[in-house]
Amino acid sequence: MEKELEKLAGEIAAAVNAAKTREELEAARVKYLGKKGALTAFFDKLGSLPKEEKPKAGALLNTLRKKADALLAEKAEGLESCSESNALDATLPGRNFSTGRYHPLTIISNEAKEIFKSLNFQIIEGPEIESDYYNFEALNFPPHHPARDMQNSFHLGNGMLLRTHTSPVQVRTMEKQKPPLRMITIGKCYRSDASDQTHTPMFHQIEGLMVDENINFGDLKGILKVFFSRLFEREVNIRFNPSYFPFTEPSVEVSFSCHVCGGSGCSVCKKTGWIEIGGAGMVDPNVFKSIGYDSERWTGFAFGWGIERLAMIKYGINDIRLFPENDLRFLGQFE
Ligand code: PHE
Repeated sequence: MEKELEKLAGEIAAAVNAAKTREELEAARVKYLGKKGALTAFFDKLGSLPKEEKPKAGALLNTLRKKADALLAEKAEGLESCSESNALDATLPGRNFSTGRYHPLTIISNEAKEIFKSLNFQIIEGPEIESDYYNFEALNFPPHHPARDMQNSFHLGNGMLLRTHTSPVQVRTMEKQKPPLRMITIGKCYRSDASDQTHTPMFHQIEGLMVDENINFGDLKGILKVFFSRLFEREVNIRFNPSYFPFTEPSVEVSFSCHVCGGSGCSVCKKTGWIEIGGAGMVDPNVFKSIGYDSERWTGFAFGWGIERLAMIKYGINDIRLFPENDLRFLGQFE
């Protein structure tokens, strides 16, 4: 009997060990310790043993029973803590903490500011609600000049309007500072255009102005070459095409050689090798006169264009309406 019990003890330990669920453990308990269990059967046999063997066999059985009970209890505890850790599944993906990001227009604006700061340009701000004087008149737009129609203004009455461009900041800066000066400004502008792929009633412009003695188109080209080369992280060339603005003379439309193909022609530059970006020119002497600068002594250049357009070119965005929409799927793509 001793041998048999030893064998049984091994079986019980193996069965308990192998149980992977509470159900399997319970099945093992029933198999060995249940009413018709293997160990229970030994207890039943105890009565039919010779009297002198009974105490030893009884003690053996009791020890085995205690051992089995302890094994079962220990295993049950193990399974329990296992199912607890199922509730906290360590293999689940971690929680995402969403962090804020800069808007693409902010990223471009900051880059532009850094580049111009390194070229000794001041960063100036101006009001979005402007007077007719600063938005038009001081910039050499006479009262009924047709060029005013190019800028579909939001008029506020009493001669005030939402500025249609950032050029009034040129005038405000020159009123306050004597030449020589170098400044840029970046800010919101408004035109009552219907929204489409390339128009929104509110947009941003960057404006630059440099005034000194003997400033010429070469200086403008040089500064713009540095600016676009740094912004697009590749050496670009600058091209001027004749244009017209009341406050610059001569006026040009600025293009830079395509930052994708380098000028050989691709789908981004529509096979022309050039990307047109915006207006510029030499400050019209009439503007200097309205500010009180000596236009015989000082010359200067100015330039201005859309920050949205710059961002669309740099990031390959095809619809300007994405910028004010604040769709996180769009905004999340910019570092
Ligand atoms: N202010 C002009 C516009 O918005 C752009 C420009 C700025 C042109 C400076 C020349 C010089 O259309």
